[in-house]
Parts: sequence; structure tokens; C-alpha cells
Amino acid sequence: MAEHSNIPRMRKKRVYIETYGCQMNAADSEVVLSLLAQDGYEVTNTLVDADVVLANTCSVRENAEQRIYGRLGEFKRLKNSRPDVLIGLIGCMAERLRTKLTAEKAKGVGQIVDMIVGPDEYRRMPELVHRAWHGEKGIAVQLSRVETYDDIVPLRTSGISAWISVMRGCDKFCSFCVVPFTRGRERSRTLASVVREVEILSSRGFKEVTLLGQNVNSYRDENRDFADLLRSVAEVDSSIRIRFTTSHPQDMSDKLIETIADHTNICKFIHLPVQSGSDRILELMNRTYDRARYLGLLYRIRTRIPDVSLSTDIITGFPSETEDDHQKTMELMEHVRYDGAFTFKYSPRENTPAFKMLDDVPDAIKTLRINEIIDQQQKISLQKNQEMVNHTYEVLVESESKKSPVEWQGRTDGNKMVVFPKGNFKAGDYITVKILRANSATLFGSTEKSHSQIELPIEEAA
Ligand code: SAH
Ligand code: SF4
Ligand code: F3S
Repeated sequence: MAEHSNIPRMRKKRVYIETYGCQMNAADSEVVLSLLAQDGYEVTNTLVDADVVLANTCSVRENAEQRIYGRLGEFKRLKNSRPDVLIGLIGCMAERLRTKLTAEKAKGVGQIVDMIVGPDEYRRMPELVHRAWHGEKGIAVQLSRVETYDDIVPLRTSGISAWISVMRGCDKFCSFCVVPFTRGRERSRTLASVVREVEILSSRGFKEVTLLGQNVNSYRDENRDFADLLRSVAEVDSSIRIRFTTSHPQDMSDKLIETIADHTNICKFIHLPVQSGSDRILELMNRTYDRARYLGLLYRIRTRIPDVSLSTDIITGFPSETEDDHQKTMELMEHVRYDGAFTFKYSPRENTPAFKMLDDVPDAIKTLRINEIIDQQQKISLQKNQEMVNHTYEVLVESESKKSPVEWQGRTDGNKMVVFPKGNFKAGDYITVKILRANSATLFGSTEKSHSQIELPIEEAA
């Protein structure tokens, strides 16, 4: 227990955390909870029970920040009724707005929050909370070139799936993106420590790990790259599914494609954001590839891994985007036929290079274009899901279906959500499911048998 442990009297103080943004934040929240648990705090999932309330925030788009401002308003009401509650704003928004929030100490957000902590300063959380109990507002927003929280065992609750953050930061500087400013420079954990973590998860019965980084393909531990890491992790336990995200198209090597193809427990699912189908826009975005290179990469991936599932991110309405640029994105998506796509309206972020460009696509046009993209993708997803009907797939049982207490939900290797009757199965089982019907988001199936090891996909084995 840390020396400044501050747990008084009768019961343990309780910490509550709300997480916004990407999976990196989800993983970071587990690090923060672990640090506070070591300091004697108890975790609660109920806001009203909490003594310390934390919002782990995202700055990637304006609406992400607006949502958090709204939430802070509610925290303020909680603080009005229980002035002893501590409120902490942590994560990317803390980092991005550090100057503004410090200047604002006496009013607005600065008044509601007791702690402002950036993504590289979580080790100081126990100390900052301790000081806040004594009325001292804390701000810790230094970015680090080395911090990876390598030695901290995250506080995980699932028991089946685990996030493992393998690298932090981003050096890509896409012109629209705030992440290099909120997360700082790229740095990787050691391969040995990631492997050790997977060994521990294996002994605890976990069945899925997702290796995380803004740009996992930049992972490096001396002369070992992401493909080496992926191979080492996959070889720990063949009954653990390995996923990873996000891959930047620029450094997706043939060695990495081979590694994915060669291991049955590395999921054949790649999230490979393209952002736009127009070379002119890709150049302005500083994505460092063009359409032909991206499509060439997909061709290599699909040739080597024919059953691969692919998903993407798209930004619509980037400065100067014309109808013609938009149609190029539509064509690319129709040509590629992604299994899924996350689509965003361009949102100008202060201090990014694109912020200096005129945000000249009117919101009404952004809305039209995003709707067209979403409609087209939904049709494609529906077709692709319906092609799966009457086929059987291996599914990892994950949790109770959100809509029905008598059904489980789980995912295929290709990351498709499947809902099926509970039977005698339990979370963590691998089962074979025959798909009976599908909509654009979910497959519905019946179960056949369970097995504890990952088997070859049925289609391939037949
Ligand atoms: N590192 C990942 C993406 C992280 S952010 C990658 O490079 O793929 C997740 C997604 O948010 C991005 O892929 C992009 O599509 C979107 N995004 C980032 N900044 C944005 C902005 N300013 N406006 C709209 N969407 C944005
Ligand atoms: Fe942002 Fe680009 Fe880095 Fe992704 S690769 S986090 S989009 S700068
Ligand atoms: Fe958001 Fe930060 Fe992730 S800005 S997308 S939470 S890295």
C-alpha cells in the first residue's frame, strides 16, 4: 500500500469511473482503478455510492467533449448535494484543455473538478486524490516519452476478454487528429512484459485478449516488431483469441499478414481505417498512402487470408471535400465491401494542421454524405451477414444477450455479434453456432456443441 494511503475510519472510500472514447481509455481506466485499489479504494459501479468520481475523457471530436461537459453538469449537482465528493477529469480532455482548465480554476469546469490528470500521469492519482481530500486542487498533465504502465496489473472485471495496451501515443500526425497532442509520442512496452501478462490471463482462464495501440503496427521492442509480438502472444495459449487494434495502413507489413494467416488463434479481423477514398483528401489528411496503395494492401491481405473480415473508419466533410471526393469514398467502400465501418463528420480540432484549413463543408452536406455512407454500409453489412445464414461458425460465449435473459451473445472470429439460446453453455466456452437469420448488425443462430480449444473454421476444415 502506498505510504500516503488515506483511507480513514470505518469503510473504504469508493471510486467510480466513467470512460469515454477509445479502447485505450478503457484500458487506462483499469490502470487507474488498479492504482487506487492498491491504495485502499473500493470500486463501485454506482455513481451515488461514490466518494471519488472520475471521468476518463475523449477529445477526438467536438461532440465527444460536449457530452462530457454535459455530464460534468450532473456531477456538479451531485457535488452540491454531497460536497465531500471528489470529482476528477482525467484522460485526453484533461491533456488538451490543460491551460484553459488551469486558467479556469476559479470558475466553470475548473470549479467543479478537484483533479485534472492527463494520460501519462496516472501513477500520481493516489497522491492527487489524497491532496484533494485536504482541499488542494491537483493538476498533473505532463506527457512522457517513456511511461507505459508496464508494471501495473490492470483491474479487470470481465474474466473472459482483456485489453492489453502494448504501445502508447502516436507519431503519425494525421492533419485532423488531436491524439498526438493528447497522448504524446509513441512508446512501446517490452515484448516480455506483454507475454507475461498474457500468461497470467491464460492461467486465470481468460479467452480473448485485444492488443491495443493508436497505431499497433509501429510497435517496437529493440529489433522486434508488432508481427513478432503478435506471434509470441499467440503462442502462449492456443485457446486464447488474439485481436488487435488499430492498424495504420502505412506500416502493415507482409510479415504481419503472414503472422495473422499462420495462427489459428489470431482473429482474422483487421480494422484498417482508410478515412477517405479520394487521393486529394488523403494527401490533405497526411495519411501517407493513396487509394491505390491502400487497395493493393487489401488485395495482399485478402489473397493470403481469404476469409478475413475488414472494417474501417471514414471521415466525411473534411475541408474542401467535394461531391466528387465523396463519391470516391462511396465507390471505394462499395468496391471493398467492408464488414463494418465507423463514420464521422469532420470536426475541427484546435492546434491540428487541418484547423488552419477552412471547415467549408456545411453541416447539412456533412449530414447528407454521412447518411449516404451509412446507408450503403448497412446494405453491404446486411448482404454479408445474410451470406452467413445456414453456415456454421465458432463463437466465443461472452455474456448474456442485451435483449433476452435466455440467450447468450458472443462473437465469431471475424468479430460478428451472434445471439443464440443459452443451453448449458457458459461464458468462456467456444461453441459451434449455425446461423439461422441475420440483420445488418447481428446474427441469430442455434447451437450444436462446445469445445475448449479453437478449431479450424468449419468452412475450411470441411
Ligand atoms: N489511431 C486510429 C484512430 C484513432 S481516432 C487510426 O489511425 O486509425 C478514431 C477515428 O476517429 C479516426 O480513425 C477518425 O476516423 C476519427 N477522427 C479522428 N479525428 C477526427 C476529427 N477531427 N473529426 C472527425 N473524425 C475524427
Ligand atoms: Fe490520429 Fe492518425 Fe494517430 Fe490515428 S494515426 S491516432 S488518426 S494521428
Ligand atoms: Fe479519444 Fe483520446 Fe482515444 S482523444 S479516441 S480517448 S486517445
